[in-house]
Amino acid sequence: MSGKVLKFPTGFFWGASTSAHQVEGGNTNDWSEWEKKNSRRLAKLGFKRLNITQNQFGQKSIFSEKLQKDVSDPKNYISGIACDTYNRYEEDFDIAKSFNHNAHRLSIEWSRIEPKKGRINDYEIEHYRSVLRALTKRNLEPFVTLHHFTNPLWIRDRGGWENPETAEDFAVFAGIISEKLGKEFKYWTVLNEPQQYALASYSGWITPGKKSLLSGLRAIRTYIKAHNLAAKEIKKHCPDSMLGIAKTEQYFEAYKNFPHNILLKKFADRFMNTYFIEKILENLDFIGLNYYFRNRVRSGYNKNPMGIVSDLGWDLYPKGIYPVLKQLSKFKKPIIITENGLADARDDKREWLIKETLRNIHKAMQDGVDVRGYLHWSLLDNFEWDKGFWPRFGLVEIDRENNLERKPRGSAYKFAEICKSNILIVEDDEGLKAYD
Ligand code: BGC
Repeated sequence: MSGKVLKFPTGFFWGASTSAHQVEGGNTNDWSEWEKKNSRRLAKLGFKRLNITQNQFGQKSIFSEKLQKDVSDPKNYISGIACDTYNRYEEDFDIAKSFNHNAHRLSIEWSRIEPKKGRINDYEIEHYRSVLRALTKRNLEPFVTLHHFTNPLWIRDRGGWENPETAEDFAVFAGIISEKLGKEFKYWTVLNEPQQYALASYSGWITPGKKSLLSGLRAIRTYIKAHNLAAKEIKKHCPDSMLGIAKTEQYFEAYKNFPHNILLKKFADRFMNTYFIEKILENLDFIGLNYYFRNRVRSGYNKNPMGIVSDLGWDLYPKGIYPVLKQLSKFKKPIIITENGLADARDDKREWLIKETLRNIHKAMQDGVDVRGYLHWSLLDNFEWDKGFWPRFGLVEIDRENNLERKPRGSAYKFAEICKSNILIVEDDEGLKAYD
């Protein structure tokens, strides 16, 4: 065996993440309604609204004809049956198990459990009990998210997250889940990327379709309150639970180190990365980190080098996870990578991204940062929100023309080797220079 051997500790969590609306199929919530209204518009816009025009390598031309067709087909912007994981979860968990995963992250869909305020659907509670048991039966540690972007229609109609009362409603939902299902799992990623989502959803771009920074800031306040109230409810029923968040952290870099860019970077680091955590810290047992890309800030707009980019034009920079982890370590909580991945239909960068990210995680661990696991986004190609089905994030390809057949990608097996051995072998340090 040549190369440097990097060992991860015994008991390290290895797995993949998903979310209900993106894989289950058959949901009725604020997103499903928004999709129906917006699919034609999104298909028409196609590639135009993506970063990929910035790509110096003419990224668009590498897309297969099939993918280009998918981009302009309105039906690809409606989640519909998604991956049908609602019915096929056993098959999906068998696949995860065959990849040597020992953990799996999913979300419980609020609109299924409480389709109308105060009306609890026991059938769906039992469905999720079976799902969670199917995980533990396979020795896959469940990580459960309670809010991954979608809302029941009654929440939407009462003003969504702009309405501070949504925090109390959410805490009631958290109470129900902890009381009825709390014995089935230990790790909770209560909210997924709340701050990012609050700002995105009031950018006018996605549901609820309103453009207002003030509303976005109000929503952030509601999410903070929601986490803190929900945590109390959960701990009441499940005192031994491990409460976390899945929080996006970007690696911000100051363009050319100009003083005004340094200031901007400091602001971005504080407001986008650490602010939310500070506000919920006393109700956190661990921090879940979603890390995807670099953001080189330059007054007004980003100036990323775009060396190696994903199909979505994201500036992939696995090295950035190292400073992000160092930054998070000041909170003195265990950290679990709850998402990391890329849209890569040809599967020619995924193995590289996983390995380089793990190399940098390992480096942070050597410096004493307490990282306990790595969950890749995502297990399956799934419904990528306003981008529809065309971005392919899966370790497993979903063949949408062939009964949603699951077809593992080559990179999934490479990752599986690491999961099995707890060992990452890297050639040398040269690879690191290639994407500076
Ligand atoms: C979200 C996922 C999404 C992924 C890729 C994360 O921000 O939690 O729902 O699919 O990024 O865009």
